[in-house]
Amino acid sequence: MKKNLLTIMAVLLLSSTAPVYALDGAAIYKNPAKGGCAACHGKDAKSPIMNAYPKLAGQNEAYLLQQLKDIKSGKRNNGMSAAMKGIMHMVNDEEMKALAKYLSGLK
Ligand code: HEC
Repeated sequence: MKKNLLTIMAVLLLSSTAPVYALDGAAIYKNPAKGGCAACHGKDAKSPIMNAYPKLAGQNEAYLLQQLKDIKSGKRNNGMSAAMKGIMHMVNDEEMKALAKYLSGLK
């Protein structure tokens, strides 16, 4: 009984921390553990929670990737970049690439 519970807990733990979404831009975009992009930019990436937040859907892929890198590194430091910079440690280079690709492909 106790053993079963441990197994279940181990499976839950593994499935929640394993990088199964590593290169799935759509999943990363909606994953709160990856910064929860959708929470600010909107589920469809074009209905941000604040009017002043940017719409991302359909934007040029190379541009998106560069902005992600620059916001993460602090190179891009507008009045509002700080809102996003705090979560950028949650995504690595490969994930940012997947995000840029996913977002640029949206209508
Ligand atoms: C806490 C709210 C918040 C979260 C979470 C957030 N962003 Fe942002 N994002 C912003 C704001 C605000 C800006 C505008 C920053 C500025 O003015 O420099 C921005 C800017 C951007 C830009 C640049 C857009 C442009 O047109 O130049 C991209 C790309 C972007 N976010 C993607 C993402 C992705 C991908 C994630 C998830 C990993 C994410 N954001 C998470 C608030 C957020």
